[in-house]
Amino acid sequence: MTLPYPATIVAKVKERAVLDAAKAAVARPEGSVERLVRLAGPDMAKVDALIVARMQSPVAVIPALAEHLIAAGGKRLRPLLAVAAARLAGSENDAFLKLAAAVEFIHTATLLHDDVVDGSQLRRGKVAAHLIWGAPSSVLVGDFLFARAFELMVETESMQALEILARASRVIAEGEVMQLTRSQDLNLGQEVYLEIIAAKTAELFAAAAEAGAVSAGADQARSDALRAYGLNLGLAFQLADDALDYGGATETLGKNAGDDFREGKATLPLLLAINRTPREADFWERVIGQREQTDTDFRRARELVVGSGALEATLDLAADYADRAKRVLDAFPASEWRTALEALADFAVSRRA
Ligand code: IPE
Ligand code: IPE
Ligand code: MG
Ligand code: MG
Repeated sequence: MTLPYPATIVAKVKERAVLDAAKAAVARPEGSVERLVRLAGPDMAKVDALIVARMQSPVAVIPALAEHLIAAGGKRLRPLLAVAAARLAGSENDAFLKLAAAVEFIHTATLLHDDVVDGSQLRRGKVAAHLIWGAPSSVLVGDFLFARAFELMVETESMQALEILARASRVIAEGEVMQLTRSQDLNLGQEVYLEIIAAKTAELFAAAAEAGAVSAGADQARSDALRAYGLNLGLAFQLADDALDYGGATETLGKNAGDDFREGKATLPLLLAINRTPREADFWERVIGQREQTDTDFRRARELVVGSGALEATLDLAADYADRAKRVLDAFPASEWRTALEALADFAVSRRA
């Protein structure tokens, strides 16, 4: 005879089991960003000083809003990548510091815009800026940060770096708009999904690495290799980000798990889960197609994403791209920087934050 447990306890036990299964699916070669953070420490201190100096403005809302987001931290992966690429390419000047700061400004600007577009409430563990200052201020301060990025790039007098990062800024916007117009399309294929994440996320990783290499005077083969590393890393990174929306925890992420689901965003874990659970077609049509969701629907969706193996498949694909990124580095002689970039590729997939 089964004992009649209260429904709340049954639900809790079930939820724990789903989260444990998610955790197991997420386990991958343990990567770390620590090595790179240590190596790049002295350079990054200068990059951070530049960021703080250049976010200033006599218009008070601008530094207040920018500081809210910038002081909250963030992993600083893209400037780290620019620094590492320049160092790996043997830079003998420090133009890459300005490029690294510019890259973080571009990233920060896109986050401000993205949280308005996605209606996200939490960013870097803090209330999203648009909920404090309003969407108009958030969008306009995003524009300010974009403009600051371009001022910094011009100061380096490298037309090539400027061209790389200007193109990236355009491609990111294209990716975000593409996502906007396709976000509730349950028939979105994996190829289009990859096209979107390549544009909105991987392009900036690629550009950061390429610009860093170019500013160090790297030859074509090496700047191409670093660009390819950044692109594959960025794809792995966004695939993991999309997996973490279902398999991660709000506390470690610093942004709300389930944001993509509530928005009905056609990310790979969702697309795969829908394909693998044809008997749930009515559920998916209601919660994503019609976006009629109740409080418990995310839990149900997470169960299906984990239970159908969609989460694991997404992370497997992320791990494939991370491997590709690492293989590209074979073009460089062994060095501390190369080892640190290899660990970063694993981190992109195994990360919880
Ligand atoms: C968030 O990027 C936006 C995505 C491309 C998923 P990060 O996870 O690098 O954000 P921060 O800078 O560390 O906060
Ligand atoms: C981020 O995509 C892409 C850009 C910021 C350009 P997401 O929408 O997945 O990023 P998060 O999850 O809000 O950080
Ligand atoms: Mg978002
Ligand atoms: Mg996301």
